Amino acid sequence: MDEKPFVVAICGSLGQRSTTRMALSYALKGASAEGAETELIDLRKWDIPLFDPDDRDRGDAGELKRTAERADAIIMGTPVYHGMISSALKNAFDYLGKDQFSGTTVGLLATAGGGSYAHTLEHMRTGIRTVHGWTIPHEVGIRNASSVFEDGEITDADIEKRIRILGEKAVNYSNIRANTTRRGRTE
Ligand SMILES: Cc1cc2nc3c(=O)[nH]c(=O)nc-3n(C[C@H](O)[C@H](O)[C@H](O)COP(=O)(O)O)c2cc1C
Repeated sequence: MDEKPFVVAICGSLGQRSTTRMALSYALKGASAEGAETELIDLRKWDIPLFDPDDRDRGDAGELKRTAERADAIIMGTPVYHGMISSALKNAFDYLGKDQFSGTTVGLLATAGGGSYAHTLEHMRTGIRTVHGWTIPHEVGIRNASSVFEDGEITDADIEKRIRILGEKAVNYSNIRANTTRRGRTE
């Protein structure tokens, strides 16, 4: 690969001291250590109005689309909200689609206040498959997330390792291509 792969993380929490955002920053450290250029999309700083299907280019939506389209891999991070994904992430995701995700490698990360994040990861997996993205089998779910971070730093070495591996894999599996040599066709 000539250019550095570009890995984008989208944080679905608007919280000031978001555990999701902190976790994603560790994933991007993993990606950076693997040679990637990285960007964290902190939705607090973006103007992403409530999605209106009749006006799909409001606010910073165009820039969001361009950034996602440029990405070789995208890491989606969300807090578990009522067993689903956050409204902030879903709203941003609604502006995006196959133009951004088709053939793109996608990492998934969820933080929970309690012990259950499986349904949230499943929702993200389903959404990404719908827009023809490729999800990385290594996923990160963090239970009791507020107890895992202190002063912005992660306190659990095993979870830190798991998060960093997600970032590494986002790089290692970026730009995957179909093997057309066997049958001479892609799909
Ligand atoms: C509206 C709302 C719904 C939530 N629903 C759940 C839930 O269903 N299960 C759970 O374990 N935690 C739930 N939580 C707790 C969050 O998942 C948890 O605090 C998360 O780590 C917050 O992420 P953040 O620090 O990035 O904002 C909920 C929190 C909010 C505000």
